[in-house]
Amino acid sequence: MKKIVLLFLAVALTFSVVGCAKKAVVTPKIGVAIYKFDDTFMSYVRNQIQSAANGKILLSVQDSQYDQPKQNDQVDQFLAEGDTALAINMVDPSAVSVIIGKAKAKNVPLVLFNREPVAADMAAWDKVYYVGAKAQQSGTYQGQIIADYWKKHPEADLNKDGILQYVMLMGDPSNTYAKYRTEFSIKAVEAAGIKVQKLAEDTAMWDRVKGQEKMAAFLTANPGKIEVVFANNDDMGLGAIEALKAAGYFANGKYMPVVSVDATPPALDAVAQGTLLGTVLNDAVRQGQATFDLAYALASGAADVKTDVAPLALADGTVDPAGKYVWVPYVMVTKDNYKDFLAK
Ligand code: GAL
Ligand code: CA
Repeated sequence: MKKIVLLFLAVALTFSVVGCAKKAVVTPKIGVAIYKFDDTFMSYVRNQIQSAANGKILLSVQDSQYDQPKQNDQVDQFLAEGDTALAINMVDPSAVSVIIGKAKAKNVPLVLFNREPVAADMAAWDKVYYVGAKAQQSGTYQGQIIADYWKKHPEADLNKDGILQYVMLMGDPSNTYAKYRTEFSIKAVEAAGIKVQKLAEDTAMWDRVKGQEKMAAFLTANPGKIEVVFANNDDMGLGAIEALKAAGYFANGKYMPVVSVDATPPALDAVAQGTLLGTVLNDAVRQGQATFDLAYALASGAADVKTDVAPLALADGTVDPAGKYVWVPYVMVTKDNYKDFLAK
């Protein structure tokens, strides 16, 4: 009996020594690049990736400063340093084949997140993954929030023509989130049987200050005519609210329904104050966590990524049958449920 235990211990020791020796040779590190640090939503995703990595693995987190050639150089640097996985938020998803080529040449798995590449690029290599959210769904929720408001508030039809006159603040026009939110928000309003008329549409590049400037211009060009404001994200919606306040809205009974996406803490405050009608939770915590979990499993050399990683990712989103996409669901947020999201 003693002998067996000793033998077992000896075997266990041998294995752990081998294990240690292996670890000493490779110090796993994950290279992370964010399209630009100066993006509110992405800074929440980045914070989650960093806190998820804490105590588990080293990260190198780089700001690509909205510059694709710069990001390509950062990827070269990650690969030169021997990083064992990459987590990349593309500046320009149409340039992804360059990044895939670099990663593939060194056989370093690649997790793309937030900016979705086209299916053909995703299919180019079996070690490319994507973590994001279905942009269409967020647009649909925005439209449903507005349709619900419009039906309950006949006074919202200012000129009593039975048509909803709106303005649209778009994010970066090269971004599929901007494209689909713009399209699907309006489709959902129409699907609810409401006629719409677009008074103005312009990009404010996801930016709060630009959102305020564009909204001020919309108000000047369409005095008293705007009935609803759609913004592709909270920062632009909050900027629009500033412009509206300066024009006398949200005081003395003057109101404008504004709807956006992300559910950042300042947007939740605005919902609480009654300035922002609604937003859509774009779950930065779950997207950041899933990005890290996937990259970490890949960096740790999970033998069969499809079976090892998919359940991991599934805990926080849904995975397609091929196991290459992780979709984190959106949630509609209004004054009825915003308190549920305050901690996030
Ligand atoms: C979206 C988000 C925007 C912006 C964008 C960057 O999902 O709603 O606020 O961060 O990603 O690609
Ligand atoms: Ca009208």
